[in-house]
Amino acid sequence: MSDQTAKLSLPNGKSFDLRVDKGTLGPDVVDVSQLAKSDIFTYDPGFMSTAACSSKITFIDGDKGVLLYRGYPIEQLAERSDFLEVCYLLLHGELPSKTQKEHFVADINSHTMVHEQLRNFFNGFRRDAHPMAVMVGVVGALSAFYHDSLDINNPQHRELSALRLIAKMPTIAAMCYKYSIGQPFMYPQNHLNYAENFLHMMFGTPCEDIQPNSVISRAMDRIFILHADHEQNASTSTVRLAGSTGANPYACISAGIAALWGPAHGGANEACLNMLREIHDVSRIGQFIARAKDPNDSFRLMGFGHRVYKNYDPRAQVMRNTCHEVLEEVGAHDHPLFKVALALEKIALEDDYFVSRKLYPNVDFYSGITLSALGIPTNMFTVIFALARTVGWISHWQEMISDPEHRIGRPRQLYLGPTQRDFVEVEQRK
Ligand code: SDX
Repeated sequence: MSDQTAKLSLPNGKSFDLRVDKGTLGPDVVDVSQLAKSDIFTYDPGFMSTAACSSKITFIDGDKGVLLYRGYPIEQLAERSDFLEVCYLLLHGELPSKTQKEHFVADINSHTMVHEQLRNFFNGFRRDAHPMAVMVGVVGALSAFYHDSLDINNPQHRELSALRLIAKMPTIAAMCYKYSIGQPFMYPQNHLNYAENFLHMMFGTPCEDIQPNSVISRAMDRIFILHADHEQNASTSTVRLAGSTGANPYACISAGIAALWGPAHGGANEACLNMLREIHDVSRIGQFIARAKDPNDSFRLMGFGHRVYKNYDPRAQVMRNTCHEVLEEVGAHDHPLFKVALALEKIALEDDYFVSRKLYPNVDFYSGITLSALGIPTNMFTVIFALARTVGWISHWQEMISDPEHRIGRPRQLYLGPTQRDFVEVEQRK
């Protein structure tokens, strides 16, 4: 903590010396918590300039396009690490030793199956239910199976819940897909790595399994790494707020999945591919750019812009390279939507509307094309995002719950409603 202060002088003559705290990286913060004793609130809709907590997990520099997981640049992790190693890093703060990694992978593998009864949950959904609706329900229901480890103040219970969630999300995600196409659920095969196992459960059948393809499984693993965490985004903040009430981790992750679903957040990859399909030809890009710039048109360029990145999203660059690799591997290097995306990106980045507002492609701009080229249906894109982001959510949940000073989150408001008035019987109302 620093000894710097910021003076706040109020119209009523009161003044406060507010402590200014410095982080290891990024902006300083003005600690306004002492205002709780006063009769004034801070006001910041959308939390544009509000730090809701301190954290050691992920750092973003939006102006420079920097993303660090526990200090390691996302580009290096995406290129040289693998998803389960990144999970260990996010959860424990350090890259695992060889032995630690072997034990972690073995721990995850011992939890990849779900309770057989969980399969019955799927039968309550229509086959054409959106898989995110199924995911929210099934993950929230996991707590019904694990009453043996729901004491959030018990570190062993917290660790076990984290392992179970990271291990089971691919199994549940694949079950959502299999249920939607009427194919039998596939059991995990623990001799496969995390991404291979997911692809096996998605595309294998009891009649024949998929042929492992290292380019495809590596691309899948890299997509998981890119989506693993992202500081205090909307869904992570949802998990933290739900967790601050003492709710069990499965309920908190289910709340995070629900928040991620929105098209302004994790639903943008599905919305972006649908937008590219609607554009479908480079010649039509101009009319969509015009709509995106029209203040009277609610249409936005999906996959563009970001609350924090006012430069290129570093994940988008890795995603674009991965997209190119996958398209080459599956023989779709001339994929029409990839051509549209490349042209759209070029045109937008030369247009003053986007340049002046610092709107660049974000992680969702190329992920949709890549996932589509991997054979994953559009309505499963946000499910994949939720699968990968679970480790980020549970790492933030762990960080908050293990802080003895954490308390229930309870924001206040600027009230603009009617002043007090007396009840009027219905006969006297106009
Ligand atoms: C994710 O927070 C995270 O970290 C999220 C995420 C993560 O990993 O968790 O990174 C994942 O959610 C990425 C973002 C995915 N969403 C989209 O791609 C949807 C399209 N993008 C926009 O809806 C928007 O850019 C947001 C929601 C991402 C950010 O919105 P902000 O920060 O509230 O910005 P804004 O709405 O105030 O926009 C500022 C200006 C406005 O114009 P003016 O009022 O100045 O005239 O930019 C315009 C907006 O109209 N604008 C866009 C635009 N995004 C912003 N105009 C056209 N197309 C867009 N995509």
